[in-house]
Amino acid sequence: MYTQAMDTMAPGEGRKAVRSAEEMQLEERFEARIDEGDFIEAKDWMPEHYRKTLIRQISQHAHSEIVGMLPEGNWISRAPTLKRKLILLAKVQDEGGHGLYLYAAAETLGRTRDEMLDALHTGKAKYSSIFNYPTLSWADMGTVGWLVDGAAIMNQVPLCRCSYAPYSRAMIRICREESFHQRQGYEALLTMMQQGTDAQRAMVQDSVNRWWWPSIMMFGPPDDQSPNTAQSMRWGIKRMSNDELRQKFIDATAEQAKVLGVTLPDPDLQWNEERQHYDFGAIDWSEFWRVIGGDGPCNRERLGARVKAWDDGAWVREAALAHSAKQQPAARAA
Ligand SMILES: [Fe+2]
Ligand SMILES: [Fe+2]
Repeated sequence: MYTQAMDTMAPGEGRKAVRSAEEMQLEERFEARIDEGDFIEAKDWMPEHYRKTLIRQISQHAHSEIVGMLPEGNWISRAPTLKRKLILLAKVQDEGGHGLYLYAAAETLGRTRDEMLDALHTGKAKYSSIFNYPTLSWADMGTVGWLVDGAAIMNQVPLCRCSYAPYSRAMIRICREESFHQRQGYEALLTMMQQGTDAQRAMVQDSVNRWWWPSIMMFGPPDDQSPNTAQSMRWGIKRMSNDELRQKFIDATAEQAKVLGVTLPDPDLQWNEERQHYDFGAIDWSEFWRVIGGDGPCNRERLGARVKAWDDGAWVREAALAHSAKQQPAARAA
């Protein structure tokens, strides 16, 4: 369907009607390219709705990366050993880098970085609601890596084949780093479970109890309540549905939990031989909508920290711009 252009046309605008016919042709060509599995580049023609969908998705993703630095940054100065501190520092820096690749990918669609950051800082834009939960213990650094980065990989691997090429290229780099994030988290938990004290094992279990349900909510609402999914799948932006990805994550994670020796906090979680998948209990979607709506445990704190970081960095941006202005005449003269 490509009635979008027609819908936005003012009545009686002859010139626009001609353009719309051209647009319809362009849209047909675009749809054919998508059907052939072709990738769309920044300079290629694309329907406005495709562009807007991508801007929303990529900018939300970028915001999630940089807000995601906050709950872990909180633990850098309290890491138990130098090795753990180095790993955590590297991971938090990776997340900052992911934000940069993604803002750059969204900029190719015509939205400036200032506009995107302004939407984040004024609360208009969303980011992944998982980062509105607090990190209360060192074990949370392991659990966030294992479950949160693990869920992120499950979500993001199919995006490496997203039809919009700049996004897909960014995702290939990001996914390589995300698998390191997941592995380091799992390894940190395994060390505590296998070589730690009873108190450390209890700390890991408590952490898994708190992060399990928010992690499986990261795949978004059930398919029948996810209005954008069908169009996004049609356009090759999304390759697997929320429920398919959630099931895949639960199947993989339930097995990893056994090796780790932790109990996942869901009494209904059990292998279903007939389905060849794990069954699991009902998800409390009211919590999900509440946290998305701004009323999670840390929403205000996270946004406050982001705005403060932006304000505190104003002098760096001003200095960089002043330096760049000074270099330009010199470069021209050379
Ligand atoms: Fe990331
Ligand atoms: Fe990550």
